[in-house]
Amino acid sequence: MSTIVDSPESALPVAPAAAAPSSNAVALASRRAREIAKRRTFAIISHPDAGKTTLTEKLLLYGGAIHLAGSVKARRATRHATSDWMKLEQERGISVTSSVLQFEYEGFQLNLLDTPGHEDFSEDTYRTLVAADSAVMLLDNRKGVEERTRQLFEVCKRRRTPIFTLVNKCDRHGEDPLKLIQDVEADLGIDCFAATWPIFTDDVFVGVYDRRHRRVHMFERSDDRGASRAGVVDADIQDPRIHELVGDAAYARLTADIQLLDAAGHAFDHQRVLDGTLTPVFFGSALTNFGVEPFLREFLELAPPPGPRTATTGEIMPDQNGFTGFVFKIQANMDPKHRDRVAFVRIVSGEFTAGLSVLHQRTGKQLRLAAPQQFMARERVGIEEAWPGDVIGIMDRGTLRIGDTLGGDGTMEFQGIPRFPPEHFARAIPADPLKRKQFDSGLRQLTEEGAAQVFFAETSTGSQPIVGAVGQLQFDVMAFRLEHEYAAPCKFEKMTYRFPRWLTGPKAEVERVANGQSRMRLFDHKGNTVVLFSDAWALRRALQHEDTVTFHETQP
Ligand code: G4P
Repeated sequence: MSTIVDSPESALPVAPAAAAPSSNAVALASRRAREIAKRRTFAIISHPDAGKTTLTEKLLLYGGAIHLAGSVKARRATRHATSDWMKLEQERGISVTSSVLQFEYEGFQLNLLDTPGHEDFSEDTYRTLVAADSAVMLLDNRKGVEERTRQLFEVCKRRRTPIFTLVNKCDRHGEDPLKLIQDVEADLGIDCFAATWPIFTDDVFVGVYDRRHRRVHMFERSDDRGASRAGVVDADIQDPRIHELVGDAAYARLTADIQLLDAAGHAFDHQRVLDGTLTPVFFGSALTNFGVEPFLREFLELAPPPGPRTATTGEIMPDQNGFTGFVFKIQANMDPKHRDRVAFVRIVSGEFTAGLSVLHQRTGKQLRLAAPQQFMARERVGIEEAWPGDVIGIMDRGTLRIGDTLGGDGTMEFQGIPRFPPEHFARAIPADPLKRKQFDSGLRQLTEEGAAQVFFAETSTGSQPIVGAVGQLQFDVMAFRLEHEYAAPCKFEKMTYRFPRWLTGPKAEVERVANGQSRMRLFDHKGNTVVLFSDAWALRRALQHEDTVTFHETQP
C-alpha cells in the first residue's frame, strides 16, 4: 500500500549567500560532500527477458530493502493494489512505467532508475538515462547483445555514460564467455575488461574469479531458488581450498583463461571506465544470486558518484550551493486513490528539504516543493531531505513539464533532455460525447506526461483531437488509461499521415505551404502550425522545394 506522508517544513538550514561562510554553511557543505560521495544513480539497460526484474529484485535483496526476493515479482500479480494503471502492465506482460528505487548497501545509497522494458516506450527510457550517472548493461548469456540493448547502449555511448556489463543466466549453458566478450566489442564498439570470470565445474556454474582482487568466490546453491543470499566461500586464487573445491580440470581451465585474458585482453583503466570507452564485464546468475554480490561491490567501487549536468550557463556541479534539478519524467495517476500527478526531479546540486521553495525557471515563479516522495520497491515514502543524484517525486497540479529546470537564479536552464517527434498519428474519438470534459482533461494530462502529444485540426476549441505518439502501443495505453482513470472510453482511429514538421516563416507562406498537396495541417496545443505528410516522398519534395519557410522536427 502506498503511504503519502506530508513532509514537515524545512529541516535543514538553507545555505546563506554571505561572503564569509558561516559554520552552518561549512557543516552543510561537508555533509553534502559525504552524501554525494556515497550515492550511485544508475539504470539497467537490457532487452526484454534478459532478467532485469530478477536482477532488480536481487539488488534489493542484497540491499536489505526486501527480505525475500520474489516479492517484487509476487507483487506483479497483485499490482492493482498499488495502481490500476499497472493492470495494463500485467495484461500486456510489459513494464510500462519507470519507477525509481532507492536502497542502501554497505554505506552506499543506490538510486536505481528502472527503465521501461518495451521498445515503444523508448522516449521515456532515453530521458531516464539522462537522469542516470551510469548504466548496467544486462545480457543473456545465450543471446549476447540484442536489438534493444543496442539502441539503449547507443544513447549511453552518446552521453559517455559509464557502462557496466553483467552477463546473466550463467547457471545454464550459454555462449562461450570469450566469444561473448568479443561480440560485445565488435557489435558495440566498446572495449571490455573481464572483471569477473565464470568458473564451471563439470559444466555447472560454481563461482567467479575476481581479476582485480585476485579472489575466487565460490557459491553454494540455496534450495529456495535464489530467494535468499547465496552462500559464499571467498578466498585467494592460490588458496588450496579453492583448487580442491573447483576440481583439477576446472582449475586448469581457469588458470589458462586468466593467462589468456591477462595477455590478450584490455587492461583495466578506471578513467576509461568513467569515460565510457571501457566496460567492466561481470558474469553471474540473477536467479541463483551467483556473482551478484561481487558485481555489486565492484560496481559501487567503480561507478561514479553523481556528476555535473550541462546547463545554458555551463556545467552545474553537484557540490555547488543552492538546489537545482530538472524534471525528466511526469506520471499521472500513479495511485488512482490519490488522483495525483508526480513529476520526477533529478537533483543536480545543493540539497533538497521538504517544503523548499525554488524558482521554476520556465515561468519565473517560485514553487514550493511540498510532499516530495521517494520510491522504495514501488512504495512511496515521504522524505525530508535529498541530495544530488537523488530523484524525488513532486506532487504537481499541472505546472511542471518534462525538461523544466528548478532552482538557480533564473539565468540558467538544463540542457540535453531529448525530445522525439511523434511517428504515429490517430484521431481520438470519445465513445460518449457526454464525457467530453473528462476526455479532454484526461487527454491533456496524459499528454503532459510527455509520451504523446495532442494536436488539433482547427484552432477552435472543441475540435477533434489528434494524438501523435512515438510508438503505436501508446494508443492502446492511452485508451486504457482514459477509460480506467478518467472514465472516458475512446477509440483511436489511426491515420496514414505522418512525418510531422513545425513550420515557421512569413505568415502567408506558412499558410500556403501548410495547405499544399499531400499534406495535412494541424495545430499544436500552443496554436503553432504543424504539417503531416502522406509519405516520405511528399516530405522530401517539400523539404527540397519550399524554401520560404523553415521545417522543424520538434516544436521550435
Ligand atoms: P526482464 O525483466 O528483463 O524481462 O526479465 P525477467 O527478470 O522477468 O526474467 C525473464 C526470465 O528469465 C524469467 O523466466 C526469469 O526467471 C529468467 N531469469 C532471470 N535471470 C535468470 C538467471 O540468472 N538464470 C536463469 N536460468 N533464468 C533467469 P520466466 O520463465 O519468464 O519467468 P519465471 O516463471 O521464472 O518467473
